[in-house]
Amino acid sequence: MKIAIIGGGYVGLVSAACFAEFGVAVAVVEADENKRRMLLAGGIPIYEPGLDRLVAENMAAGRLTFPATLQEGIADAEAVFIAVGTPTRRGDGHADLTYVFAAVEQVVKSLDHPAVIVTKSTVPVGTGLDGRIGRKFLHPGPGFGGSCFPKDTLALMRIAEEAGAPSRLIQSVVSVNDRRKGDMAARVVKACGGDVRDKNIAVLGLAFKPETDDMREAPSLPLIEGLISCGANVTAFDPAAMEGAKPLLPANVTFAKDAPQAVTGADVLVLVTEWNEFRALSPVRLKQLMRGDVIVDLRNVFDPKAMRDAGFTYQGIGRANEAYPEAAPD
Ligand SMILES: NC(=O)c1ccc[n+]([C@@H]2O[C@H](COP(=O)([O-])OP(=O)(O)OC[C@H]3O[C@@H](n4cnc5c(N)ncnc54)[C@H](O)[C@@H]3O)[C@@H](O)[C@H]2O)c1
Repeated sequence: MKIAIIGGGYVGLVSAACFAEFGVAVAVVEADENKRRMLLAGGIPIYEPGLDRLVAENMAAGRLTFPATLQEGIADAEAVFIAVGTPTRRGDGHADLTYVFAAVEQVVKSLDHPAVIVTKSTVPVGTGLDGRIGRKFLHPGPGFGGSCFPKDTLALMRIAEEAGAPSRLIQSVVSVNDRRKGDMAARVVKACGGDVRDKNIAVLGLAFKPETDDMREAPSLPLIEGLISCGANVTAFDPAAMEGAKPLLPANVTFAKDAPQAVTGADVLVLVTEWNEFRALSPVRLKQLMRGDVIVDLRNVFDPKAMRDAGFTYQGIGRANEAYPEAAPD
């Protein structure tokens, strides 16, 4: 296997030497010609214990090279690591991504075969173009629930506390999530102008995720309790979780036989669990069935523009809201 590493600094050079030691052929592309010459001559521009030996041995074995051009470096490489600097940008404290963008551009222009591009450079949230880091796996929502994550984070927190080494990171995860779930009712109340007394609220989805009847730690529970305590009338529907939800919810929650029945006559629709059948609800049909025009979509299932075009006051989650242009994404 051959890989290329763009940037031969603290991260790039050390990674390159270690990969080479594992038997991988590594080409380090370094833009600073003085640094490159020094490396070729057996010098090490940085201090890292044992690095000089690793570099020398792997250069001698032919596994570690410092080619003069990027084209040469990435030729036949199956993976290209970007390890250029991302220093603090002068003046505003943000990361300066100039080197990263320049390096990626050079690589993309010169690649003539399929290769994986790996970002070792530290880039701010929102820059990762890897499809797996982002919308495919990470979705904004009403807080996590379910059978594993809540109990496991809690158990880890307790173990750390009892060992006399409380983990503030895990404590923060747990408390941020608790707060997130607790905030959802207030979010709906706000979307309704500050008062939900005697309003009919249709809640679509009760289970902590779609394709399950599991109600453990489901965000729908504090949401519905909060709405009821504010005087709302709640009608709920879930394709699989209603039996499990009934004993966990206040007795005055009404359960519908399907989504259209749940939204009929509703002032507000709150989507809590992203079951596929809810995605099929058209804005026009919802407009016909509902009495009111407020939609709070806690899973970003609906198309905001289509909902607004149909006359709804639509609010999603975790993205800038046109309804509240001054508000930061939450
Ligand atoms: N992922 C991790 O595990 C990890 C750990 C620590 C640091 N980092 C990040 O790695 C990045 C690199 O850090 P560093 O300490 O090695 O920086 P560094 O400044 O020591 O090295 C960067 C090198 O890249 C070279 N370079 C810049 N543009 C180039 C280009 N277009 N082509 C070829 N070479 C180019 C520079 O000449 C320099 O030698 C930073 O973003 C840092 O935050 C990542």
